[in-house]
Amino acid sequence: MNYNKTITNNKIELLNYLPNIGISNVKEEILTGLLAKQKYISPKFFYDGIGSELFEDITRLDEYYPTKTEKNILAEIVTDLDINFNKLNIIELGSGDASKITLFLEQITKDKLKTINYFPVDISQSAIEKSAEELLAKFELNSITGVVADFFHQLKLIPQNGKRLFCFFGSTIGNFNSDKAKKFIKNLSQNMQKGDSLLLGMDMVKNITILENAYNDNKGITAEFNLNILNVVNNLTGTNFNTSDFEHYAFYNSDLNRIEMHLRAKKDIEVNFTSKNKTIKFNKGETIHTENSHKFTSENINEFADFSNLSVKKIFVDSKEWFSLVHYLKE
Ligand SMILES: C[S@@+](CC[C@H](N)C(=O)[O-])C[C@H]1O[C@@H](n2cnc3c(N)ncnc32)[C@H](O)[C@@H]1O
Repeated sequence: MNYNKTITNNKIELLNYLPNIGISNVKEEILTGLLAKQKYISPKFFYDGIGSELFEDITRLDEYYPTKTEKNILAEIVTDLDINFNKLNIIELGSGDASKITLFLEQITKDKLKTINYFPVDISQSAIEKSAEELLAKFELNSITGVVADFFHQLKLIPQNGKRLFCFFGSTIGNFNSDKAKKFIKNLSQNMQKGDSLLLGMDMVKNITILENAYNDNKGITAEFNLNILNVVNNLTGTNFNTSDFEHYAFYNSDLNRIEMHLRAKKDIEVNFTSKNKTIKFNKGETIHTENSHKFTSENINEFADFSNLSVKKIFVDSKEWFSLVHYLKE
């Protein structure tokens, strides 16, 4: 197995499986998107060190209700969650700054915390390193093992042993289109053992103005985050995108129940993909689709369960029913 292992102290271990994917596959994936009729770049490429920090800034914006709403639900969830925390392996997919798991762990007694193993899984190594250090300073956990991996393609590499609680917060599931989301949950379910749980954060369909404002903030942080993906692509592939040639464009697509984020060319542009000997041409106004953020209904909650052979144990919501945290159980 091709991975880098680092032990930062006797309680934090870091496993980086991204080298398994290989830079030539990454370049191919990006080029395929840029040559498609509707050009696209996968949102997983948002998250270099700068992108991860910009996302943290987004979560603190007044307009960005999802993080605040999900955190309010999480802050009081543990007593109503029928889970035995003794020797539990908590695996958080797309853990980011780990501020959500912090709220969760704060509600667990110290004697139980000492037996818990926490596995943050994220594509951003810097996010995992920073959050693991912060968590260890705050909680006396049995261990923290950071897994730097692509959770879509490398799900098999996450720990398979012990009793497990999977956490997938932030409605990151909404970044997949509906088929891919169902396949992902099914794949996860097939990796779960009887008695394992999944806590899934799902942002619900709501008023369009609230949705569109959340992705078009006044300070322009979401725009900066969106544009930064071009710097990440330049670093990974050697392209010569100039961020000032593009502008942020985000809107709600009511037919597909999703916010779409795009980067729109301000003029005709040619970008060199020299490592693959290609030139990517943009007409003024043409867009690169960078992210979908699907919004869900209660039917979707049940669809995931039916399609993936999971049962819905409990649904936690805020008073406005803007966000759901769904406890699925493998029976
Ligand atoms: C929308 S953010 C959510 C972060 C955090 N869970 C929260 O709720 O605030 C998505 C997170 O998933 C990570 N991520 C995105 N695509 C990924 C992938 N394919 N594999 C692993 N991590 C990924 C990003 O680095 C980022 O930390």
